[in-house]
Parts: sequence; C-alpha cells; structure tokens
Amino acid sequence: MDLFEYQAKELFARHGVPVPPGTVVSTPEEARAAAAELGVPVVVKAQVKTGGRGKAGGVRPAPGPAAAEREARHILGMDIKGHIAETVLVESATVPVEEYYVAYLVDRADRCFLAMASTQGGMDIEEVAATRPEALARVPIDPLSGVDERTAREIVTRAGFPADLRGPVAEVLVRLWQVMVAEDALLVEVNPLVWAAGGAVLALDGKVSLDANAAFRHDRPALAGEAGDGGIEARARARGLNYVKLDGRVGVVGNGAGLVMSTLDVVAQAGERFGGIRPANFLDIGGGASAQVMADSLEIVLSDPDVRSVLVNVFGGITACDAVADGIVSALGQLGERGLGRPIVVRLDGNNAEEGRRILTLAGHPAVRQVTTMDGAAEEAARLAAV
Ligand SMILES: Nc1ncnc2c1ncn2[C@@H]1O[C@H](COP(=O)(O)OP(=O)(O)OP(=O)(O)O)[C@@H](O)[C@H]1O
Ligand SMILES: [Mg+2]
Repeated sequence: MDLFEYQAKELFARHGVPVPPGTVVSTPEEARAAAAELGVPVVVKAQVKTGGRGKAGGVRPAPGPAAAEREARHILGMDIKGHIAETVLVESATVPVEEYYVAYLVDRADRCFLAMASTQGGMDIEEVAATRPEALARVPIDPLSGVDERTAREIVTRAGFPADLRGPVAEVLVRLWQVMVAEDALLVEVNPLVWAAGGAVLALDGKVSLDANAAFRHDRPALAGEAGDGGIEARARARGLNYVKLDGRVGVVGNGAGLVMSTLDVVAQAGERFGGIRPANFLDIGGGASAQVMADSLEIVLSDPDVRSVLVNVFGGITACDAVADGIVSALGQLGERGLGRPIVVRLDGNNAEEGRRILTLAGHPAVRQVTTMDGAAEEAARLAAV
C-alpha cells in the first residue's frame, strides 16, 4: 500500500525525522490560507502516488499566499501519469545546498533488507543507478540487528557523504529505520534528503509503502480504503475479494490461489504466440463463491481499462459451476452495454459443470465464449486480447 507524500511525512515526523512544516489541502482558497498560516515562502506539491512530479510541473514554488492559491489552482486536477492531483501539500520552502538520496527496501532477490544511499539525490536516481552504479551505495541490513548508530555510519561512509554531515545523516537513517520497523513498511525512500541553508538535514520528499499484510497491527483509519491503483483494489477489498493489478491485457478470474496462479502461467505462455500478451490482473473468488461474488468479480476486473479480454477459469469443488454461471449471467445483466465491448472466455469444469455450461449457452450472451480446456481457454483469451 503506497502512501501519499504528506502521509509519509506524517510518519517521518512521528519518528523524529525532520520534515518541513506543511498542510495538505484540496482547494486553492485553502492553499492560500495554509500559506498565510505558514507565513513564509512555500512550495505547492501535487499529491499523487507516482514519481516525477517535479518534472511534470506538479511541484511549484510560491513566494506568498496569493501565489500559493494560483499555483494550487494550476496543480489541482492535473493529470500526472494517469494520476489526478486531488490534493496539494503546501509546505515551507527550503533552500537546499545539496540533495541526497536514502532508502530502505525489502530486497526480495537477496531475501534481506537493503539500505541505499547516494550523494547524487534530487534527480532521477534510476539514472544514477544505471549510469554510475558506484555512486549508489548498497548496504544489506540484518533484519535482527537492524540499523543502529554504527550501521548508519557505515552507510553514510560508503555513500561518501561529507565528513561533517555523516553524524546528522546517520541520525536520520536510524530514525528512518524505526519508521521501517515500527510502521511495517516495505519501502521508505527519501529523495531528496537535503542539507539546507542554515545547516539542517531534512526530508523534502517521502515515499513509503506499507505492508498491507500487517495492517491489522496498526490503527490507521485515515488510510483505510487507500490503494495504490486509485480505487479498484480498495473496492475489491471492501467486498472481500483478492484483486491484484498486473501489467498485461487479459483479466483473470478463478477460484483458489493454486488455480489462479497456474492460470496466470498458461495465459502468459499462450500469450507468447500473440506477441507477448500477459495477464492484466487477477481475482481469486475463493471457495464456495456465490453468484453475487462472481458478479462483483467480473464487474471489478472489467473496470480495469487495460483489460482487453477476460478469462474465467473455475474448477467447481465447493463452488458449484451453475452458481458461477448464474453469476456471470447476472453480472452481464448488470453491466448492460459496458459488458459487451470485451470478450469473456469461460472454462467451467468439476462440480455441476454441465449445468453451468447449459446456463451460459441458454443465456447466449454475445460476449461469452465457452472453451472446455484450460489451455484452450487461455489460448482463446490471449488471441482475443491481441486483436
Ligand atoms: N519544501 C521544499 N522546499 C524547496 N524545494 C523543494 C521542496 N520540496 C521539493 N522541492 C524541490 O522540488 C524537487 C522535486 O520535489 P519532490 O522530490 O518532492 O518531487 P518529485 O519530482 O515527485 O520526486 P520523485 O520523482 O522523487 O517522486 C526536489 O528535488 C526539490 O529540489
Ligand atoms: Mg523526489
């Protein structure tokens, strides 16, 4: 679960990581009031869950309240890589002397935590990593001992921070590690961490991703319903469905994690023959799913604009295929016109499969195509997504 910058900074502040004072607002008038309240030159920043806001014109300086109102009017509603800025952060402007980069993340490949730090922050860190890998220090972190003063010193030394800044930056690193652990984060990234005129070291940007599996350990009503994809995941969760966004074109609905995972594999394999078609998302309806669950699932998967075709792959056990078929028919009824545009390939097998197939055949919906084998269904879904 990705957080907005202002939410990340709230967590930073809670753990003693210095951040500029600021207020999040949703109208130009509130931006003016927030700037007046701060009483200093400000920066107005689009709150969207994507990087590169500065380059897109979503981070703008404003010397006073009137300018803050004007800049907020300009930024609110702005589309940054498909994310609409619904709020802006109005925060005190700092004059950076130097911009640095620090981050902690879960390194899945090496199965450990990783600290990354560079004195070349502020700009595109991916570019630094690609063109000058030696400028980005990578230090593995032992999950049991974590980051204490000594480890933090090692990180800043390896990254080549100037000697007089090693102490203050190390202190920030220890506190950011506390954010990582105490908040159950998967990613904590500060780009830029700045050395400001006057000598302070502070986080001007913040990117935090929390581990949704640990949400039950925290009381975070303000974050409830937040999701990285701007809504579909949250809607699925509200209905008790497990929906995951991927980057291909075939929507996948199945019952049970094992079947769904293998469905993703066969779609990707079949997709190779159609120019590399891959799954767009997947949704597991679980065991014993009712017609309503099936209807909700189809509605959710089809609300993803990347989906060109849908593959419904159900092996009836506790879930009876006739209930699944009823769900598909009722979902298509509810969707009306919206259900017509994209083909839905259905493979039903197992408990009451014949009855399920009969229901679909009788309904005769133009979007539905039945295929009896899993491989055949994956092939058909991939072919349809490619046209
Ligand atoms: N409070 C501030 N005062 C002065 N300058 C700021 C402030 N906040 C941001 N900036 C400047 O704007 C630049 C871009 O801001 P920021 O890093 O928050 O957004 P971004 O472009 O979305 O970054 P990323 O691509 O890392 O997500 C910073 O590198 C910094 O130079
Ligand atoms: Mg940044």
